[in-house]
Amino acid sequence: MNRIAVYPGTFDPVTNGHLDLADRGRRHFDRLIIAILRNEGKEPLFTVDERIELLREAVTGWDNVVVESFDGLLVDYARRIGASMILRGIRAVTDLEYEMQMAMMNRRMYDALETVFMVPSEKYSYVSSRLVREVARLGGSPDDLVPPNVVRALASRFRRPGKA
Ligand code: PNS
Repeated sequence: MNRIAVYPGTFDPVTNGHLDLADRGRRHFDRLIIAILRNEGKEPLFTVDERIELLREAVTGWDNVVVESFDGLLVDYARRIGASMILRGIRAVTDLEYEMQMAMMNRRMYDALETVFMVPSEKYSYVSSRLVREVARLGGSPDDLVPPNVVRALASRFRRPGKA
């Protein structure tokens, strides 16, 4: 059986929490497609193409993982690529309400597509892309929270004029 799971998200940028979850998830599926949403309203820090590149570099060597982007409804994309599962992470109980709403809405649109929740390592339970962006923007160091290529990308995005 070829079990394909899709791990959708914004990934702006990918964090070690996302990678921890993808690494746990990929052991339980034949293929894990990490899918970055393209048609987002909010102003992202990194373009979709930059986020794809950062994610692809970060998952190098994980041979059953691919990184793609998608437009429109997740359920339509999942159907198109033959995914039977959606993988999402739950860091804390506060994630649950939003995640349950999405899971039930997705089920209403595509009943055979199951949402699977996994819990990342507790050392990443407070990590979010939003906080990583904020810390980096204000000159803090998110070094242990994101992969090295993202540390570099954030440093170059927020390099202060006049600073080496
Ligand atoms: O990383 P995020 O921002 O929590 O990811 C949210 C995402 C991309 C999974 C969600 O917004 C999504 O699936 N968007 C695609 C459009 C869609 O299908 N909307 C209905 C969801 S019930």
